[in-house]
Amino acid sequence: MPIVAPSLLSANFLDLDADCKMLNESQADWFHLDIMDGRFVPNISFGPMLVSFFRKATTKVCDLHLMIEEPAKYAEQFKNAGADILFLSVHIEACPHLHRNIQQIKALGMKAGVAINPHTPVESLQDVIADIDLVCMMSVNPGFGGQKFIHHTLKKIKTLRNMIDEKGLNVLIEIDGGVTLENAGTNVAAGADVLVAGNTVYSSKDPKATIAQLKKL
Ligand code: DX5
Ligand code: ZN
Repeated sequence: MPIVAPSLLSANFLDLDADCKMLNESQADWFHLDIMDGRFVPNISFGPMLVSFFRKATTKVCDLHLMIEEPAKYAEQFKNAGADILFLSVHIEACPHLHRNIQQIKALGMKAGVAINPHTPVESLQDVIADIDLVCMMSVNPGFGGQKFIHHTLKKIKTLRNMIDEKGLNVLIEIDGGVTLENAGTNVAAGADVLVAGNTVYSSKDPKATIAQLKKL
């Protein structure tokens, strides 16, 4: 059964309370929170202040996806906003000192994730994979919700699954972008553990039922 992590990016920001309540009552496992700075990605979303509100609104795991430059600079602020149950993912493309940054995240008591863009080969994770808890595999170019799944990602999931299993590691593979009810099963079959879903959940007539359907895969 996959871990389901709805992305709040597609929620109704004028009524976040209702969307948080819906997620709390649903079978969703995590809250996926997309942080964008308008520099690493061509869009701006929200920062630590809103994360602290989300944290108070749920007891579920908060899964922070930092699409920002110099993410390590803000790790402590996010930790303070997010309390104890937190995955913090940074982009490999934004971290020239990735190994150090992973240690910084872990020293703050958070689970460390590394996100990779569609053009970044899985092999670039080879020398840090044993140090992390999660790989956020981007299946769209980061920056916006509601984009189309990039099919080539399936091959990358299989490669990553083999890398993790060959080393006997316990690293979660998260798929982020363009996940639908139609392609979610294929992603899980290829080796994905965590399904992020924004548009699929929030544009559906019955988000809770959609989450339940994703859980069943
Ligand atoms: C994209 C974000 C995703 C996005 C997913 O940059 O990282 O988490 O919100 O949204 P959908 O599922 O609509 O592609
Ligand atoms: Zn994301």
